[in-house]
Amino acid sequence: MNASHRFSPPARRLAPSLLHVCLFAIAGIVASSPAVAQPAKVKVGFMLPYTGTYAALGTAITNGFKLAVEENGGKLGGREIEYFTVDDESDPAKAPDNANKIIKRDKVDVLIGTVHSGVALAMAKVARDNNTLLIIPNAGAGDITGPLCAPNIFRTSFSNWQPGYAMGKVAAEQTKKTAVTFTWKYAAGEESVGGFKEAFEAGGGKVVKELFLPFPQVEFQSYLTEIAALKPDVVYAFFAGGGAVKFVKDYAAAGLKNSVQLVGPGFLTDGTLDAQGDAAQGMLTTLHYADGLNNPKNRAFRAAYSKTFTGEPDVYAVGGYDAAQLLNAGLTAVKGDVTKRSELVAAMEAAKIDSPRGAFTLSKSHNPVQDVYLRRVEGRENKIVGVAARALADPSRGCKL
Ligand code: BEZ
Repeated sequence: MNASHRFSPPARRLAPSLLHVCLFAIAGIVASSPAVAQPAKVKVGFMLPYTGTYAALGTAITNGFKLAVEENGGKLGGREIEYFTVDDESDPAKAPDNANKIIKRDKVDVLIGTVHSGVALAMAKVARDNNTLLIIPNAGAGDITGPLCAPNIFRTSFSNWQPGYAMGKVAAEQTKKTAVTFTWKYAAGEESVGGFKEAFEAGGGKVVKELFLPFPQVEFQSYLTEIAALKPDVVYAFFAGGGAVKFVKDYAAAGLKNSVQLVGPGFLTDGTLDAQGDAAQGMLTTLHYADGLNNPKNRAFRAAYSKTFTGEPDVYAVGGYDAAQLLNAGLTAVKGDVTKRSELVAAMEAAKIDSPRGAFTLSKSHNPVQDVYLRRVEGRENKIVGVAARALADPSRGCKL
């Protein structure tokens, strides 16, 4: 008996079972291998207000972001997206806990938020400590792209200084001599009126009184009485969301609309016109967005947004939409590999975003360099009147990037 005869019967018996083992093993690998299955989703955490005076702003940002993702086939940088959400309630005291929760518990790859500057300042600190990528779709706190700037922190909206500065320039050019400023007492309001004052006084005007009330209070009456007594040429006010609706209506109801011109950053009349009605008609504001901007991106964006969601888009939806576009620019450059952080950041820094506001780039400190428009309320629209400040960059004092 030769060797092949001796071993052939057991070999024949073994052959089918080995084949089965191999087939099962291959089938198992095919079924479970992440290389063959879809790559893991990119985890995006929304930390935004969904309750309180800024609730509508948080929803608009979320809608805008998701619209950009859907237009990109449900993916960014070739990877599907998984969303995590926390309602920050526009409460700075809860912000460190909320940010830590979404970063550590949900392990998000990128944090998107928020609206309120005080909350955003706390988020930026947590994002820095954890080296989490943070894209701010609204909050304009100057320090975030100033002394607290960081390679992992970007903003797709504005600094509070930008629209304020532009309106101060306009008011001075209109030869207004005296102004009263009025706002909530927190970073956004203070920096917004600071920008207004800087340009207004450089242009020859004088801010004769600065009025503040705590956020998010809306008991405006005693302040309106004071404004009536002061009789300035112009009032510059920063309020937004539900607070802006009430303020503009109270201002008109107090009989001031026709005696003392009310102006502000565009937040005073953006996303609010349905509720403000006649009280807002004719108001001049400055912002990096206007409803009727006649560029192809804005026309397509507005059509797609109102087809997908209830209501018209506003500046907050634009901030969310562009946050997704910016993240897509970064993720595309690294083929969806979020671990390639320095290449991802470099691509975001170099991106030219085709925004509904008009194309924009980022400054060295990661804040948009953009035109700020002068707009007038006509009916339910913030209509563009002109460009108040062209390619305006935030001074970003103290940023060392
Ligand atoms: C802010 O807190 O930075 C802010 C809130 C609403 C509108 C604009 C800015």
